[in-house]
Amino acid sequence: MYPADASGQSTAQGGGAAVAPLLVVLGVQKRFGGVQALGDLSLSVASGEVVGLIGPNGSGKSTSVNLIAGVFAPSAGSISLAGQDLRNLGVDARVRLGLARTFQTTTLFAEMTAFEQVMTACHTRFGDSVLSSMLRRAHSRQATARQAQRAEEALDFVGLGMRMRLLCTELSSAEQRLLMIATALATDPKVVMLDEPAAGMVAHERRVLGELIERIRARGIGVLVIEHHMGLIMEVCDRIVVLNFGRRIAEGTPAEVSRNPAVIEAYLGHAHAERGAAEHAR
Ligand SMILES: Nc1ncnc2c1ncn2[C@@H]1O[C@H](COP(=O)(O)OP(=O)(O)OP(=O)(O)O)[C@@H](O)[C@H]1O
Ligand SMILES: [Mg+2]
Repeated sequence: MYPADASGQSTAQGGGAAVAPLLVVLGVQKRFGGVQALGDLSLSVASGEVVGLIGPNGSGKSTSVNLIAGVFAPSAGSISLAGQDLRNLGVDARVRLGLARTFQTTTLFAEMTAFEQVMTACHTRFGDSVLSSMLRRAHSRQATARQAQRAEEALDFVGLGMRMRLLCTELSSAEQRLLMIATALATDPKVVMLDEPAAGMVAHERRVLGELIERIRARGIGVLVIEHHMGLIMEVCDRIVVLNFGRRIAEGTPAEVSRNPAVIEAYLGHAHAERGAAEHAR
């Protein structure tokens, strides 16, 4: 059973019909030494739903993604995917259950082609153990062929089909961001988390990304997207969760969140603080 109300809502709003959430985060906290990076986060993402996670710099967005992905353990709270508690599972086990993510900074292997990069993720998700591939060579060859097909499909899906034989470093920064999404999608996720996918993109690249997120949603995948670009967030999200200083200060539709006084104050307050710091530095 899913908790009735993990995030103030128990259903997705995307398709109108009630959909049980896939990813459920309840009361998650994270402390790094003396820093309370995340105070108390609850959110949920359903199949085919796009949920935004926004907030000023340092508000705990990437920490949330890292906790959900299993990079580090929460100090308190619970995280589940399709009803399964993720507590004792590492990053790869969570990927195999259907939880994929991209990184805020592009983390690609410079020596690899785009295709090879995506294949490494397919191997994490679908690969045989070394022992079983030694024991069953023929089976393993078939599995590799299937993984290659998945990798090509994922690259085609994000629009990099014609670029897959290039080295990762030969791709533009926008293409490298799309490659991270292809890498995530090739693991056949139920939920994908995108940490600032539009960073460094210009307007037409952001439009392409927005369309891609819509196509990911149309496949029934749940999307948790962190983004500073408000135009994109407002356009693609069904629901937005707002963090400030590690605490959830608001949740609602894009329209609700954008007129929420606490949200406006958090962003304006942050902008004032940054301007003050810049002036102080001069
Ligand atoms: N591994 C870590 N060790 C110590 N402190 C950390 C660690 N990771 C994050 N923090 C701290 O936790 C807080 C939240 O950081 P986080 O990276 O989650 O913010 P963010 O919302 O993703 O910010 P940005 O928009 O700049 O990416 C910050 O104060 C940060 O310095
Ligand atoms: Mg971040």
